[in-house]
Amino acid sequence: MKLFDVYPLNPIEIARGEGSLVWDSKGQEYLDLYGGHAVISIGHTHPHYVQRLTDQLNKIGFYSNSIEIPLQSQLAALLGQVSGKDDYQLFLCNSGAEANENALKLASFYNERKKIIAFKGAFHGRTSLAVSCTDNPRIVAPVNKTENIIFLPHNDEAALEKAFAESGDEICAVIIEGIQGVGGIRVASESFLQKIRSLCDQYNAVYIADSVQCGYGRSGKFYSHDFSGVEADVYTMAKGMGNGFPVAGISIAPKFKPWHGMLGTTFGGNHLACAAALAVLEIIQQDKLIENAARVGAYLMSELRGFEKIRDIRGRGLMIGIDLPEELSHVKKDLLFKHHIFTGESKPNVLRLLPALNLTKEHADRFLEALKKVL
Ligand SMILES: Cc1ncc(COP(=O)(O)O)c(C=O)c1O
Repeated sequence: MKLFDVYPLNPIEIARGEGSLVWDSKGQEYLDLYGGHAVISIGHTHPHYVQRLTDQLNKIGFYSNSIEIPLQSQLAALLGQVSGKDDYQLFLCNSGAEANENALKLASFYNERKKIIAFKGAFHGRTSLAVSCTDNPRIVAPVNKTENIIFLPHNDEAALEKAFAESGDEICAVIIEGIQGVGGIRVASESFLQKIRSLCDQYNAVYIADSVQCGYGRSGKFYSHDFSGVEADVYTMAKGMGNGFPVAGISIAPKFKPWHGMLGTTFGGNHLACAAALAVLEIIQQDKLIENAARVGAYLMSELRGFEKIRDIRGRGLMIGIDLPEELSHVKKDLLFKHHIFTGESKPNVLRLLPALNLTKEHADRFLEALKKVL
């Protein structure tokens, strides 16, 4: 049997990692500013993380949601504390798409409506409703096509007001990334998020904050949506939550009342997943990683502003987009193959930095020097 060939691959096999560094099978060191697509939040193989997972695996790795798993309540308590949402409720699942799927479903159960507002440039995952809310027709299969999604221009308050004025009573939810990732690191403006909040309040619609990529401290706040000073009804999380262990969740405002069977999953919230997510939060808290993301991110952005050839620099904390002109489309490859630095990208030509939140200033400088040479 061979693999179903859906991923364009770099000819590199990563064999080992530590902090923000990884090594390939030939022993070549790389600086990792991609974090396996925003997943590595506390650095590779953090000793506390490895220990906690190993200890848990030696006790029990998995049992289903048919029994009590106190690790889940411990995780909910710590997440409530670190995210500043003590009064919210946690539902655990396995991936970002699944988190969004559950958030949208919850919203529809809540107000019994069907229409969802999503935005141009959005990416919310590849499962049925999540992909329908994703602005990329190429990955939406005919079976996922629905009349229920209204795509509006990003950060356009007038268009949002008009959509609510026209069909406010039918609108179930508004789903938005605090910073669009796949869409090219585009920050949702504070006033736009405030407008979403007030229109959702006015029309009893649900504000869903997709924090799968921009969340978990990456922006310099736990949820990047929180820069706006208003709270969402539901926050969706994945990627950085388990530092590579597949764990995801939704943080749900108190007004939503659960009933048995309303949501569910086999793997979500298993012992190992909770141990991984607890280890991540403990390290984020102990090592003040959100503050570090804000500090090193601000340093990187201010240094990058001095580079003449860059067209635009966008983002917050350690979620940074470097918009390059067409003729510099070789930069990502040169960084990887000549300077051994992993970065991400967004189309058409945006370099996407998504490193671990404990990235050091020294590693940031190593990147800046390499970028200077490549440009
Ligand atoms: C903002 C956002 N939402 C949802 C997803 C989907 O997450 P997953 O790939 O874990 O299903 C992604 C993945 O890149 C994402 O960036």
